[in-house]
Amino acid sequence: MHILHVVGARPNFMKVAPVLRAFATRSGVRQTLLHTGQHYDANMSDIFFEQLGIPRPDVALGIGSGSHAQQTAQVMMKFEEAVLERKPDWVLVYGDVNSTVAAALVCAKLRIKVAHVEAGLRSFDRDMPEELNRLVTDQLADLLLTPSSDGDENLLREGIPAERIRCVGNVMIDTLVRLLPQARLPEIDLQSRFALVTLHRPSNVDEPESLRRIWSALCDISEQCQIVFPVHPRTRTRMADLGLQTPSGNKLLMLEPLGYLECLALQKHCTLVVTDSGGIQEESTYLGIPCLTLRENTERPVTITEGTNELIGSDMQKLRSEVARVLNGQGKSGRRPNLWDGSASERIVDLLLNTEQQREAIRSAA
Ligand code: UD1
Repeated sequence: MHILHVVGARPNFMKVAPVLRAFATRSGVRQTLLHTGQHYDANMSDIFFEQLGIPRPDVALGIGSGSHAQQTAQVMMKFEEAVLERKPDWVLVYGDVNSTVAAALVCAKLRIKVAHVEAGLRSFDRDMPEELNRLVTDQLADLLLTPSSDGDENLLREGIPAERIRCVGNVMIDTLVRLLPQARLPEIDLQSRFALVTLHRPSNVDEPESLRRIWSALCDISEQCQIVFPVHPRTRTRMADLGLQTPSGNKLLMLEPLGYLECLALQKHCTLVVTDSGGIQEESTYLGIPCLTLRENTERPVTITEGTNELIGSDMQKLRSEVARVLNGQGKSGRRPNLWDGSASERIVDLLLNTEQQREAIRSAA
């Protein structure tokens, strides 16, 4: 069986890594890794390949940045050529980035079987580009692999037949479980208590007023608790445009984007997380670290119902008071969701190999 994996942006890399490793242990499987190049900076891409032990991509499309339409269309054009040449039995797409939906659409039109890893997540907020990518990808994919049962419910509600849906658990947690022992703090001047902050959603950073208000709240919070802030390239550009300056001293440390092992170590050792990332809501739930999410909604509701996550929205007073609560030792505690156990990728591999065996049996009986 020939599997072609499509990745493009930072959050895809920790999802593909365990699936590649799990397939590599099985016989009769050939794998091709295709990187669209949606993320291309060394610290947004190469370092993850190195730290996660992902082999060099067999195909690199080199797409780069652009408007959503440009980026999606360019991935589609180049991916179509690559997939026609390679003729895989299955294409695996990951998460909700532009590269995911572009590859799924090409496969659906060419009638190449496509499986979506991390299917069924819904924020019910169509202002988020990722929500549109999720909706379209899930309508097109032949096999929908969900990380939690809310994903199954969302898909069934959208009319997707139950036989296309399988709850396999969270592949990103497979990577976390494997690499937690190797997590290493970056060489920075850390205090005993600190908050890890990440921000990159267009709704937070592309709106000047919103970015100014968040920045002002972070500067205030850094008076009570050191802030460690690895800055996404999109956010760095927006902050420079607005002339937002770092306060002096080491209370608010702005860093370049970090590698996986450094980011994991900071999550493990911090007092709290403030973020608008999807993956970090999940990782902090697994690690039991209170997470304050600067969004009005989340496509990962189990991180709230079972985990340590809390939605703050855009209310910066609420952020200040919730940070104070955590610092007083009253942060939210939680438990690990079902099937977030380090074995999701093994379940995916078993499922795909069984599905393929069944098809083979039907073909030879016919
Ligand atoms: C993308 C994903 C988002 C994911 C995020 C993680 C979509 C729609 N969004 O958002 O779901 O959470 O990745 O980072 O696919 N840039 C660089 N170097 C890079 C990549 C980007 O400088 O290696 C800059 C460019 O100026 C670019 C901007 O960052 O225009 C945004 O990049 P883009 O890939 O469009 O979206 P992200 O905000 O990274």
